[in-house]
This record gives sequence, C-alpha cells and structure tokens, in this order.
Amino acid sequence: MRRFHLVEFHELSRFPATWRNLLTDVMSYFAEGFRPYHPVSGKLWAAMQACGARSIVDLCSGAGRSALTVAREIAARHGVEVSVVLTDKYPNLEAFQRAARERHGTVTIIDTPVEATDVPGDLDGFWTMFTSFHHFRELEARRILANAVRQQRGIGVFEYTERNFLIWGPTILAMPLFVWIATPFIRPFSWRRVLWTNLLPIVPLLAAWDGLVSCLRTYSPAELLALTPTHAPERYTWEAGRLRSFGACRITYLLGWPAPT
Ligand SMILES: C[S@@+](CC[C@H](N)C(=O)[O-])C[C@H]1O[C@@H](n2cnc3c(N)ncnc32)[C@H](O)[C@@H]1O
Repeated sequence: MRRFHLVEFHELSRFPATWRNLLTDVMSYFAEGFRPYHPVSGKLWAAMQACGARSIVDLCSGAGRSALTVAREIAARHGVEVSVVLTDKYPNLEAFQRAARERHGTVTIIDTPVEATDVPGDLDGFWTMFTSFHHFRELEARRILANAVRQQRGIGVFEYTERNFLIWGPTILAMPLFVWIATPFIRPFSWRRVLWTNLLPIVPLLAAWDGLVSCLRTYSPAELLALTPTHAPERYTWEAGRLRSFGACRITYLLGWPAPT
C-alpha cells in the first residue's frame, strides 16, 4: 500500500494542549504496559557503543515513556545507566517533570519547544524518535537525517505502526474502547482525563483517528533507507529492518551512526 499523508490532529499547532497531552499520556501508558519498544534496546545500545554515545536525546518525546522504558531495558540487559534528554515541539511539561522527579539525575527535560527538523547543536547524545518519524513528509524526514549527519550524531527511528491493516485494522477499531477502559488506571488520576475520555470521548476518537493516519504514514524499511543522505556515506553506517514485538506488532526501525572520531 502506498503512503498517505493525511492530517493528524495532535500535531496541529492550534490543537488544544490539554487534549494533546492526554493523548501522549495514553501512549506512554501503552509504552509502559506493553513495552513495544523493548526489542530494539539491543540494537540501539550496539549502535550507541559503535559511535561512543552514552546518552540519548529523544525527539518528539510526547510524555516520554517510550524512550525511558528503552533506557531502563538497556540498564537491565547491559548494566549501563543511559541518561535521556526529553524534548518535543509541544512539551508535555507535567509528564516531563514527573519523569525527571522519578528518574532523578538520569532524565533531563527541555521545557521549551524543540523542533525535530532543527535540533540545537548543544544537545549532546544519540537522537531517538519513537512513534514520530511518520509525522514528517519526505523532505522534512530527509532534513532530520541530514542534520544528524551534519552534527555527527547517531540516530534511531522506531515505529510500531505500519501500513499493514491485517495487523493494525482490528487494533484501530478497538482503540477507542481500549483508551476508554484504560483511562481510569492512568496515573496520576485526574478528573480532566476522565472528563475528556470517559464522559466526552474526545481522546478515544482522537487516538483512533491519529492512530489510523499514523499507520498510513509510516515508512517501510526500504523507504527509510532511501531517505538517508548520500553524501559522506562512508563515515556513516545505516541499517533498517523490522523486529518482532508483542503479539503481531512489529517495530520498523532505521539506525544510523558515524564512525568514532
Ligand atoms: C505520536 S506522539 C509520540 C510520542 C512519543 N515519542 C511516544 O512514543 O509515546 C508524536 C509527538 O511528536 C511531537 N511532534 C510533532 N511534530 C513535531 C515536530 N515537528 N518537532 C518535534 N516534535 C513534534 C508531538 O508533539 C507528539 O508529542
């Protein structure tokens, strides 16, 4: 199936921050509960070691838990405490601050907007993008990868969505119900969350629509490789593929890293 770039509501600049934050909270609840990205920790850590990186700069962090669960998995499997910088164009500040409190010393938050196509050079670490590279059309996606090369950063793109409706069709249909049922269990409990989910089902419908569009936008491994810069390729190693996650879910990934200097 070809790629369709329809609108996702939560990426619009005028979209209410409350609804966007409730959505990214649900995504973090999912990331903690189902740990879809655990299988990428080995490859990510190997790429980080190959270029001498010891910290992660997570772009498009949302509420941050995708990156944090992977950092925790690296610590559990390899005995290395990797520090994580959380960034986003629309930072979910409550979630960022909670993560920084819980993981005191290993999590740094950037509370001002960080645009993924224009990452400041003073953010030192291996760039990661979880469930977010599909936000970018080809031109912007190429720019992100080219900027990583220009700044000599490693970069890892990871997506659990894909253009496969056998895998994602039933999940998208069940999504509103899942969000509705899960919401009272999301911590910290908040009446605002219950209002916009269980009483007025904005967040469940938003999750279903943006989830569907995310699937339609997700690049395949071959498409990801085709977006990588062709200049100075000898200094960079690029690898793309798919890894099995829980159930039928698969992680599509792209990893790129420079040779150590
Ligand atoms: C689908 S959420 C993924 C959140 C998180 N990475 C996760 O796995 O749960 C996408 C995130 O990308 C952010 N975002 C969208 N466009 C962006 C841009 N141009 N630059 C930086 N962040 C962006 C949104 O604010 C949102 O938090």
